[in-house]
Amino acid sequence: MDLMEAIRGRRSIRKYRSDPIPEEALQKVIEAVRWSPSWANTQCWEMVIVKDPDKKSALANTLPSTNPARMAMIEAPVVIVLCGKKGVSGFKKGEAMTIKGDWLMFDTGIAMQNLCLMAYSLGLGTVIIGLFDHKKAEEILGVPGDREVVAMTPLGYPAVSGTAPKRKEVSEFVFYETYPSK
Ligand SMILES: Cc1cc2nc3c(=O)[nH]c(=O)nc-3n(C[C@H](O)[C@H](O)[C@H](O)COP(=O)(O)O)c2cc1C
Repeated sequence: MDLMEAIRGRRSIRKYRSDPIPEEALQKVIEAVRWSPSWANTQCWEMVIVKDPDKKSALANTLPSTNPARMAMIEAPVVIVLCGKKGVSGFKKGEAMTIKGDWLMFDTGIAMQNLCLMAYSLGLGTVIIGLFDHKKAEEILGVPGDREVVAMTPLGYPAVSGTAPKRKEVSEFVFYETYPSK
């Protein structure tokens, strides 16, 4: 699949078929995360693959009822919970290298995009979920204190094809040489 086609065609999928996905596809998605770039190749990401229906339900319950991705967590055969090891990305000998502190959110964000694009290229759906009770999810999964849950996504065959929300025009976010003066 052409890269631009994957970037433009990938949609957040919030309705899934319950059919299992091939193990080979899951491994390809994991491999796409493995090859993500990261701060000084620190690779702070870790992931928990959840297939157990009770555990998926418990994780779904960490989402507020207003979150439109809630049912997708139950419908899809797999949920991937993306975690990060704290104090690694953006750090050297325990010292933060920039005013940004921990670059964990950045590196796991890239990893999640690789995951979603690979899934899409294999005909699988994803939806990045950030709005949930992270502490509760960490308890459910037994995440150690030096790690944190960042985001999760269902993974499965889409039951619907999503429509693309409108994007900003290029002129609204690209500036040349300097920011325009107000
Ligand atoms: C960091 C992040 C957090 C998100 N959290 C949620 C969420 O909690 N629930 C949800 O339904 N969608 C969530 N989304 C999906 C966005 O709503 C979606 O990517 C955006 O509307 C663009 O649609 P598209 O992915 O189909 O292009 C999240 C996306 C990102 C990048």
